[in-house]
Amino acid sequence: MLFNYTKTAEMYQIKEPRAIGEEVFAGKGNPVKSKKVKSNFNRKMNTEQGHWILAKMGKKVLRPGGKELTLKLIRNLNISSKDDIVEFAPGMGYTASLTLAKKPKSYTGIELNEEAAANLKKTIHSENRKIIVSSAANTTLKSKSVDKVYGEAMLTMQIDARKSEIIGEAYRILKPGGLYGIHELGLTPNDLPEKKKSALQRELAMEIKVNARPLTVAEWTDILEKEGFRILSLETNAMLLLEKKRMIEDEGIFRALKIAFNILTHPKERKRLLNMRKTFRKNQDHLNAVAIVAEKV
Ligand SMILES: C[S@@+](CC[C@H](N)C(=O)[O-])C[C@H]1O[C@@H](n2cnc3c(N)ncnc32)[C@H](O)[C@@H]1O
Repeated sequence: MLFNYTKTAEMYQIKEPRAIGEEVFAGKGNPVKSKKVKSNFNRKMNTEQGHWILAKMGKKVLRPGGKELTLKLIRNLNISSKDDIVEFAPGMGYTASLTLAKKPKSYTGIELNEEAAANLKKTIHSENRKIIVSSAANTTLKSKSVDKVYGEAMLTMQIDARKSEIIGEAYRILKPGGLYGIHELGLTPNDLPEKKKSALQRELAMEIKVNARPLTVAEWTDILEKEGFRILSLETNAMLLLEKKRMIEDEGIFRALKIAFNILTHPKERKRLLNMRKTFRKNQDHLNAVAIVAEKV
C-alpha cells in the first residue's frame, strides 16, 4: 500500500518539448550512448524518473538541499502579504504551502506537468491563487508584473540554453528590484575539470533518468548575472537527499518510516533508489545543493 499518494507515476511525465539537437541519454546500457532529438515535440512517456519514483513512495521534499535549504531560501526571499509571488515547478506543492502560509497578495504556480498541476489545483484555486500549466520558459504572465519568483530542482534538469530562457523569463515578469530565488543541484569545487563534470552529469542522467545538468556555484551565479540579476545571497548545503538523517529531517519520523516501508515493499523502485543513492554517495565530494536569491537590476 502506498502512503498518501494514490496517483501512479504516470501522472508525472515531463511533456515539455525538447530543443532540437538536444542530447538525450539513451537509458540503460552504454553511458556514453546518446541520441539527438530530431523533433521539438518529444513527448515520450517516462515513468522512470528518480524524483517521481520518490514521490510515488510518498516523499514530498524533492529538492537537493532538503527542507533546511528551502527554509533559508524562503527566509531570504522575505515573502510578505504585499507580494505577488510566482513559483516555477511547484511539483508536489511542498514549498507552495510554506509560501501560502505567509499569505502573499497573490500566488501563481507554473507547472509543466499537467497531472501534477491538476493535483495542485485541487488545493490552490482562488482569485489570487492559481496554477498555470506551462513551461517556466513561457509563463504567459505580463512583463514587470510580480515581486518575487522562485523555483527549486527544476533548472538543473534543463540544458544550459533553456536554463537561460527560464531565468530570462523570471527577469521579464519581475518588477525592477524584484527577487528571484533558486535552489538547485551544485557541483564542487568551482574548478572541477570539464571531463569529470561531464562524466558526472552522464552518470546522474543514467541513474535518475533525467538529463541532470548541475552547475558549480560559480556557474550558477554567472548564468543569473548574465540574464541581468545581481546576487544578494548564496547558501549551500550537502546533497543528502537519500540519506536517512536528511529523510527524517525533511519528512518527519512517521512519514520517513512509511516511505521506508513503501520502498521495502516495492523491489523495482527499491533497486532504482539504491542505485541512485550509490551514485550520489560515490560522487558526494563533488555534489552539493545551492540556494541563491538575486535581484532584478
Ligand atoms: C524534481 S521536481 C521538483 C519539484 C519541486 N520544485 C520541489 O522542489 O519539490 C521537478 C519539477 O519541475 C517541473 N518542471 C520541469 N521542467 C519545467 C519547466 N520548464 N517549467 C515548469 N515546470 C517544470 C516538473 O514537472 C516537476 O514538477
